[in-house]
Parts: sequence; C-alpha cells; structure tokens
Amino acid sequence: MNKNTKRTLALVLSMLMLLGSFAVGASADEVKRISCVMNENGSTSRGFSWYTYENGASDLQIVKTEDFDGTFANAVSYEGTTGTYRDQHIHKVYVTDLEAGVSYTYRVGDADKDLWGETCTVTTDDGDDSFSFITIADVQASSDENFAHASLTLKGALEVAPEASFIANLGDYVNDNTNDEWDWYFKNFAFANNAYTQVPVAGNHDGNITNKLNTNCFKNTFALDESDNQSLEGVYYSFDYGNAHIAVLNTNDMYPMTQAQRNWLINDMKQSDATWKIIMMHRSLYSAGKNINKPDTVIMRNVLLPIIDELGIDMVYAGHDHMYLRTTQVYGDAAVEGTEYVTETVNGESITFALDPKGTVYTLPSTAGTKRYGVNEDAMKPILDVADEAFSTSDWGGCFCVTEIDGGKLIYKAYVVDDETQEIELVDTYAIKKTTGNTAEESTLDESLASTVFQYPINLITAIAQMLGSYFKMLFDLIGG
Ligand SMILES: [Fe+2]
Repeated sequence: MNKNTKRTLALVLSMLMLLGSFAVGASADEVKRISCVMNENGSTSRGFSWYTYENGASDLQIVKTEDFDGTFANAVSYEGTTGTYRDQHIHKVYVTDLEAGVSYTYRVGDADKDLWGETCTVTTDDGDDSFSFITIADVQASSDENFAHASLTLKGALEVAPEASFIANLGDYVNDNTNDEWDWYFKNFAFANNAYTQVPVAGNHDGNITNKLNTNCFKNTFALDESDNQSLEGVYYSFDYGNAHIAVLNTNDMYPMTQAQRNWLINDMKQSDATWKIIMMHRSLYSAGKNINKPDTVIMRNVLLPIIDELGIDMVYAGHDHMYLRTTQVYGDAAVEGTEYVTETVNGESITFALDPKGTVYTLPSTAGTKRYGVNEDAMKPILDVADEAFSTSDWGGCFCVTEIDGGKLIYKAYVVDDETQEIELVDTYAIKKTTGNTAEESTLDESLASTVFQYPINLITAIAQMLGSYFKMLFDLIGG
C-alpha cells in the first residue's frame, strides 16, 4: 500500500469516525432529572417532570404496581407539556385522578421515539391518620463528589424510615444553579426521587434573582402548583396528607414577603380543619448559624412570627443556616411557660409528649451536605434561650429528620450520619400529643398579586422600621450582656 493510498484510507476512516460521532450525538438523548412531586391532594394528585436534550413529547405511562408485568402494556397514558429552559427541554405531566393508598409503577419519556427514563414507583396517601415523612436541607453541593456524599444522608434516612410517605427537601438543592449541578443532584438522588414523592422547597440558591440573576429555575425543575403562586424565584403551595395540612412557603419572596403570599398562607391554614398544621420553608426563623442576624431573616421574623402564632401552626421545618436547632414550644417569640408533658410507651419506646401545647416548635436539620456552620453565640435573642437543642454537625456528618404522625400523636426525631462510617446516630427527639382538633374558619383575604401590589410600599416601610427596631434591640441585648 503506497503512501497516497494510506492517506486516503486514513481520511475515509476519520470521516467515518466523525460521522459516527455525530450519529452517537444525535441518538444520545436521554430522559434525566425525573421527579414526582406532591400536588394539592396527597391521595390523588402528583406532578411528574423530567428533562431531555432534544425536543419531543411528554408522555407518562403509569400502572398499579400489583398489575405491573415488567412491561407497560397495561399502563394508562397521560400526555403533558414540553417547554424549553436553558437550552434543554422540560417536560411536565399533572395527574389528578390517582387512587388513594395505591403503589404505582411508571415511566416517563416520548412514546413516539420509544425514549424512556428508568422505571419508577410512587405510592399515594391511603387517607388514614398514620404516616411519616423525612426532612433534609441544604444539599447545596457544587461537585458530583459532594452530591454523592450528601446522598448518603438520605440513604441513611431511608434505612431508618423506608416507609416514609414523602421526602421534603427544605431548599438549596444546588449551589450555583448550573445545569451540571442539577444533573449531579438528580443523578445522585435518583434512588430516592424514583421511588418516593418529593416535597420541594425553594432555596435562595435554587434560582433566585439575587443568585446570579438565575430566575424561573425552580418552576422549570418541578411540576408543582400551576397557579399564580409560582414566581420568578420559587413557588408556594400546600397539600393535605393524612390528618395534616402542610404549607410550603417561598422565602425568596421576602423583601418584604408579598401581601399575596401572606394572605394566601392565612386563608390556606384557616380554611383547613386538619389536626396538624405544618409549615415548610427555606430561611429559618429560629437558627443560630451565620445567617440568622441578616436583614432578610430579621424582616421575615417580624412578618411571619405573628402570623404563625395566629394560625396555631404546630411545627415549622426550615433550612438555610446549616446547623442543628430545635426549639421548645414558642409563642410571641418567647418560650411558652407551663407546658404539660406526659410520658407514654410507643412501640416499646418511652416517649415524652407535650400535651395539647400552646405555640410552635421550630426545627432546622443542619444540612444533608458538607457545608456546615458552627453555633453563632451572637444569634439574636431569644433564639438560643428557646432552643432545646442547638449544635453544629461540622466534622461529624449530614443530618436528617423523621416525623411520624399517628392520629393525635406526632413524634419527631433527628439523626446524624457519620461522614466516615455512615453510622446513624439519633441526636434529638421531641413529641406532641393533641386531644383536640381544629375547626376550619372562613378566610377570604385577597391572594392576587396584582390587586395586593399597592401594599408593597406600605409593607416595605413597615419592614424597614421593624428591622431597625430589631437591630436596636439586638444592640441593647449585646450591651446588656
Ligand atoms: Fe440558603
């Protein structure tokens, strides 16, 4: 073979390889970032979403797990919508007619292309008053390796509570909100996302106008409430599960919190007669990390604490401050005096319950990730005074919490997963017993963004005045020791 022939062959070979790589690229589309999130009704509705590189249809095939024969021949099909976000394609399907208490097997993708994601499962609420859920916060990783490490925290949680009905992530899924970070998050957490209903909470790193002007990310990642409650910076929504009503706030909307969200929260909670009233949010009202004395948190405390008192919220789950804290019963920004406690045996374990207590318990599950803060001894008063537990999990591990509700009993437990050994340690327990229920009230405050916008300047002036008052109080507290 002469030199020219060799050159020609090499040229043909490289062209074939180039064409081959195009062909691989063209067929390399995949279904990724699969999630199934809670919608309004835990028994019947869920929002499914996923991403692809190429444009295409949004198809869901779902079948009762007991009827699943390894194929989706018996599946019911739903068609959703496809959108474009940051050069990729977001697919969403909303389903509102699931049956209560049923385990489903499903797949999402494009039927015409026969392009499907992994086979997933989800179970709906059976409607009885016994269920449990997991809370984690602030995965906030920025490398594949750190997402993998944070996922060990949730693996630990699922070892402790494999029967959990849903997993609430209290925000800051990612650090810089890049496509890579979201891909790493979904890849490393697929073991949970593909088998459990998620309850997402928008964090300030998850597509916030103050975080590199990345907006609309949260609503382009999860198939949550499609109403006006989706803003550029997050989503607020609520759902019923068992005998609990749970509102998820958008604390990126806090400069100051819009009147629309305040009014929505008041209407939403007052109109529910659920035994347990729970709030999940990102920025914490009671924490002692590096963020607690910042203006955004100070404003939010002044706005939200009186509303939470008025609404009789039992538990508030929040993140953002990367240390562990759990308060005693709190009302009027002070520890409640005279709470009665009773001790009972539950499944062979002795548990002390606050009996029909007044006030709210605020919890912060440190972080599931590796960015951890120490305890800020200068946290504004009375935070450390009303904290039953306040500690750092630095040089220790990721934290998760499990809450079990059984009728009028709520048992909350927090755990740390050791970084090195993955040993799971119980670090805190608190429980509440209620012998009385709630009655729903009529509440029709204006929830519309457009018609409450005139309140903004008034809210802003009030927020600044209250914030200055809070800082003066902090100064006096500091001087006074
Ligand atoms: Fe945060």
